[in-house]
Amino acid sequence: MMKYSSNPPEDLLASLPRQEGILQPYCYQYQGFWHGPVGLKELIHCQNHFLARKNDIFLVTAPKSGTTWLKAVIYALINREACHPQDPHHPLLTQTPHQLVPFLQYVEASCYDSVCNSLDDSGTRIFGSHIPTVSLPESIWMEEGAKIVYMSRDIKDTFVSLFHFANKIDSRPSPISLEKAFDLFCRGSSPSGAVWDQILGYWKESLDKPDKVLFMRYEEMQNEPLVQLRRLALFLGKPFSQEEENSGVPHQIINLCSFNTLSNLEANKKGNILRVLRNDSFFRSGVVGDWKNHLTLEMASKLDQITEEKFSGSGLSM
Ligand code: A3P
Repeated sequence: MMKYSSNPPEDLLASLPRQEGILQPYCYQYQGFWHGPVGLKELIHCQNHFLARKNDIFLVTAPKSGTTWLKAVIYALINREACHPQDPHHPLLTQTPHQLVPFLQYVEASCYDSVCNSLDDSGTRIFGSHIPTVSLPESIWMEEGAKIVYMSRDIKDTFVSLFHFANKIDSRPSPISLEKAFDLFCRGSSPSGAVWDQILGYWKESLDKPDKVLFMRYEEMQNEPLVQLRRLALFLGKPFSQEEENSGVPHQIINLCSFNTLSNLEANKKGNILRVLRNDSFFRSGVVGDWKNHLTLEMASKLDQITEEKFSGSGLSM
């Protein structure tokens, strides 16, 4: 598989397959997946420079599958001893989950060592990412103690969320139509897409390496948050003690990270990340099945059909 061992050459983009993108005018195919030009350069840079450590946690999603939520949940979970979820000065009350848990690709190589999102002295680093399995820096797979949490979402809701998000990007010259975005999405042209292949990669790894990769679902997190939170805590080696259970800590983490709490905080209503992305664009409705309000029946059944074909034989269904 093609891999660049040093900084990408100037003509890198010109050498790769290219098609129209949903978030950006064009995206480029690298190691079988589609990426915007800036994200791709950052991805290659991180492939070449990032070294995983044993306490690292990587939270991976397809964009618009609940990244912001999971960032908040993992941050609150990992730091609950140093900072109680009901602490009135909890960092999640004044900073966005994206500030507290950076995207791996967008951390400067010289700053990897200074990322530390643990409030105690464990040195835990939590990173968010959309990078497909095949393109994750090798050290993440090699470092035994490093853990990956993947969150998937009903692809119809992911698409609808992505479509709305695309039209909230400040630098966008003109809106993209639902039909146009849908066509590109079905052709795989979404960030780190095709989304089906990205999900399938992590699904297979979670079956092969259950101690390394945890596969979660947005819908399960909505329907049974406490069950899923306990599962996550156990996987990360931080199970809740009986004392914590008795005093309601799991509940308090769920409440702190709920759509209602986070979306109403000033930190998440104002400001931008990565210059052109408004913090409030990461919070829309947070509803399971919202696709019914936006997609035609034909669109929904086309997405279902692709999902069925792609996931056939994998044991994964949606
Ligand atoms: P909708 O557009 O369907 O509302 P990401 O964080 O990966 O960009 O995903 C954004 C999606 O997650 C949006 O979905 C957003 O509303 C939803 N979301 C954000 N915070 C959430 C939370 N705390 N609980 C549930 N959903 C949340």
